[in-house]
Amino acid sequence: MKIITTISEMQEHSDRLRNEGDRIGFVPTMGFLHEGHLSLMRQAREENHILVVSIFVNPTQFGPGEDYDSYPRDLEMDASLCREAGCSLIFTPDADEMYPQGNVTTVSVPDLTETLCGASRPGHFDGVTTVVSKLFNIVRPHKAYFGLKDFQQYRVISRMVQDLNMNIHIIGLPTVREEDGLAMSSRNAYLYNDERSGALTLSRSLDAAREMVSKGIRDPRVIEEKVTGLIESEPTTRIDYVSVVDADNLTPLSTLEDRALLALAVFVGDTRLIDNAVLEINED
Ligand code: PAJ
Repeated sequence: MKIITTISEMQEHSDRLRNEGDRIGFVPTMGFLHEGHLSLMRQAREENHILVVSIFVNPTQFGPGEDYDSYPRDLEMDASLCREAGCSLIFTPDADEMYPQGNVTTVSVPDLTETLCGASRPGHFDGVTTVVSKLFNIVRPHKAYFGLKDFQQYRVISRMVQDLNMNIHIIGLPTVREEDGLAMSSRNAYLYNDERSGALTLSRSLDAAREMVSKGIRDPRVIEEKVTGLIESEPTTRIDYVSVVDADNLTPLSTLEDRALLALAVFVGDTRLIDNAVLEINED
């Protein structure tokens, strides 16, 4: 496994691999890897000749006052997990390598980024789509793998690739959870003891919502209210948003039909966590 820090070297490797006929699977990450990342890496390894993982804590997707400086980092541990997962190349540039002259050109996907995390983290998705475009141009993958834990990110990137005719197959994979249901996240490392148990309210409220849907409740507001009440009853939490939206265009719904997305962003102590569930309505 090779660790590459410069764009030119990464591009040379990709060109050579592509010329040799290798298919490149790519998992972009911000590191501090956990089972969620590893599930993407395993799938990518299985479906391609070469697995490339990027590890880059991207400054442009963090807002003022967010956790860019304190975001957890452990390259040594990450490298050993990547090696075990069969990764061929890690691309881990620093911020000066990625943004030597600041960042003038940006990629944005306006419609899909107006709701949910796009509304509460202005500029966040422009940072994501711009860095992912750059990473795609540097790594030149055939397939790229994203977690559905960040459902909006997955939708936004899929739309970007479609609209800009990037010849890359985007694959979304299910959320990996701890045994007790908490969605795995690098930010879980911030949680103190009582917060760790408070954080369970996210996945539990998603279960409660699924249950409501299975009992025939179709009013998104009723579901949002129930979920809000459950989360608010936990003293360590503060809701950022609880929203039922259309799972394709992410706009609010007046009634549940086909596929809806219930998305949550909740501060547990000072840590902002997200989770979501796709609510499938199968009515004959
Ligand atoms: P990061 O938060 O490190 O996540 C990297 C990838 O792992 C994303 O596709 C994310 O959805 C996926 N992932 C995280 N937790 C997961 C879980 N519990 N189950 C399944 N997949 C999970 O997302 C980013 O980094 C950045 O925004 C990035 C795309 C790298 C751009 O900077």
